[in-house]
Amino acid sequence: MATDRKQQISPSILSADFAELGDQVRSVIDAGCQVLHLDVMDGQYVPNISFGPMVVKAVRSITDVHLESHLMIAEPDKYIENFIRAGSDTVLVHPSTCRSVGDTLARIHDLGSLAGLVINPDEALELTLPYIDQLDQVLIMSVFPGFGGQTFISSVLDPLSEILDTFKKNDILIEIDGGINRKTLPALTELGLDRFVAGSAVFNKQSSPAENYTELTSLLHSD
Ligand code: DX5
Ligand code: ZN
Repeated sequence: MATDRKQQISPSILSADFAELGDQVRSVIDAGCQVLHLDVMDGQYVPNISFGPMVVKAVRSITDVHLESHLMIAEPDKYIENFIRAGSDTVLVHPSTCRSVGDTLARIHDLGSLAGLVINPDEALELTLPYIDQLDQVLIMSVFPGFGGQTFISSVLDPLSEILDTFKKNDILIEIDGGINRKTLPALTELGLDRFVAGSAVFNKQSSPAENYTELTSLLHSD
């Protein structure tokens, strides 16, 4: 699981126009996007419902880019196989939703996907440490999960520096999710993060997804 440390934008299709989903996805991919973020919500773990494996499968049918499924659902163990069969390359779960975090991560790997843990703004990143050998990725939430278009919570950055080194030493990809846009992104590119989820900053009515993606990507470190 050698981690490509080149910084990337991962567009979240949560804010896409679902009547035009294929075109919206093609727009960012034609602009060079290599990873998409799929926000799955069940109305139980979070107070919002988005989509399930059928949409992952539909996206997979039009592209080979890396698909990361962020499962904001109450019982992920029941559905992980469906999401991987639908085409997810990475499955990200919230520790409090798993009966046994270690077993869930092992199962994701057994089914052929990369695995990651998601840490909410009011949770400690140290929650990941017992599973460090099983992790390909850590997703740091910079909003409370449930909705696109929320304001970035900057206090999630306070405890970062030490534990980021631990993640890096263990070849774990570090991603941040929520409230990332052209204003908040520049300060984040210096912190050693690898991947930046952007939903409403990519899929909006102001500009095309490709134009928004290209503008955000231009703010990343190129080395
Ligand atoms: C929140 C989701 C995020 C969200 C990001 O529950 O996990 O991925 O869609 O949306 P923006 O970029 O609009 O904050
Ligand atoms: Zn997400």
